Amino acid sequence: MLNGERKIVRPLRWAMVGGGRLSQVGYKHRTGALRDNTAFQLVAGAFDIDPERGKDFGVNIGVEESRCYSDYKTMFNEEKKREDGIEVVSIATPNGTHHEICKAALEAGLHVVCEKPLFFTTEEVIEIKQLAEEKEKIVGVTYGFSGNQMLLQMRAMIEKGDIGDIRMVELQYTHGFSATDEADKYSAAQKWRVDPKIAGPSFVLGDLSTHTYYMSQLIMPDLKISKLLCDRQSFIESRAPLEDNAYVLMHFENGAVGRMWTSSVNAGCMDGHRIRIVGSKASLEWWDSKPGELSYEIQGKPAQTLIRAMPYLDESCNADERLGALHVEGLSDSWANIYLKFAIAIDAKDRGDQETLDNLVYPDINAGLEGVRWIENCVRSADQGSVWVDFEYEQKTHLL
Ligand code: NAI
Repeated sequence: MLNGERKIVRPLRWAMVGGGRLSQVGYKHRTGALRDNTAFQLVAGAFDIDPERGKDFGVNIGVEESRCYSDYKTMFNEEKKREDGIEVVSIATPNGTHHEICKAALEAGLHVVCEKPLFFTTEEVIEIKQLAEEKEKIVGVTYGFSGNQMLLQMRAMIEKGDIGDIRMVELQYTHGFSATDEADKYSAAQKWRVDPKIAGPSFVLGDLSTHTYYMSQLIMPDLKISKLLCDRQSFIESRAPLEDNAYVLMHFENGAVGRMWTSSVNAGCMDGHRIRIVGSKASLEWWDSKPGELSYEIQGKPAQTLIRAMPYLDESCNADERLGALHVEGLSDSWANIYLKFAIAIDAKDRGDQETLDNLVYPDINAGLEGVRWIENCVRSADQGSVWVDFEYEQKTHLL
């Protein structure tokens, strides 16, 4: 169980690029990183594309005015001159800026936490992975839902064989907020999401399904896709070639099959993030809307609901418990769990503690790489006319 006591010797000096006043995701980063004030301390930022608004915002959340910078390049240069300069930076800007900011941060000697989808291409991730290795730095990726401890419970039960052999993998991350094109016109956050120059080669495949895909890999680390078929649509035509809906069929190397449904036009849907794993003996199902519950259905027996924080859960699951039974946890706790692991990874890297790094389960740069690889394979299938394609892993050979 976590209670905020320090896991590393002192909090890391942390900054943000983006994540300012009008950003959707900035507060989630801060709520995660600053939950345990023993892990990170927010000391600087280039919070906004608009320097004045960024400075005003930074001061309002308690950052010293002189350390609220007009842009990330100035921040990296100025902070390098200080003895108490920043050690790690989080990048919470639109997709198309991640690669250049990440590269500049590593070159400035910083550890990095970056938003998903990490970059546009696997080549870019490989380049940054090599740079991070050279600089001996961590790159973490904020798959924000993946810190929910019930996912570790699923991982432990599947590993123990509680559901038998995996047969079907049902993944879904959908919502209905883009069912019309209204927000495409007035919302800055929606405008860039449907612009390939800023969003990259996909809309919902990158924006939504990379989360769920990573969570499936977290739960079933040995399951590998052998081929997939992706059918993607732009129901709002102006979004083409970027999809606002996609179905992906998957075949796995062990004979299992699966599907992912990802959509921003699932009209009326407020609760569309689900993972169901069907085995030869039983099934497990988790819904984001009830993050503290896990449905365990054994064939021929009454269905069970496993509840967070109970002693019957696996040790790995309860190790990430924060509030204890009877008290509701949610997305903020998930982010806090991920950020705590980023802090532990950074501290271990700085100390050269490879054993800690090898045993830590968290979304690192390989998780970012797999997300980008997933998008590339889906887009390749869709753009060839929604045909089955072999899932290309070949880049992995010179990586791992
Ligand atoms: P947004 O459009 O709401 O906010 C972007 C922010 O970045 C704004 O504050 C803007 O002023 C700032 N910005 C843009 N360029 C900048 C630059 N060069 N320097 C400094 N600040 C800059 O975007 P949103 O929705 O917050 O998404 C940002 C990133 O976070 C995207 O990559 C998105 O995919 C990801 N995201 C992840 C979520 C998660 O659960 N992990 C949830 C929502 C978004």
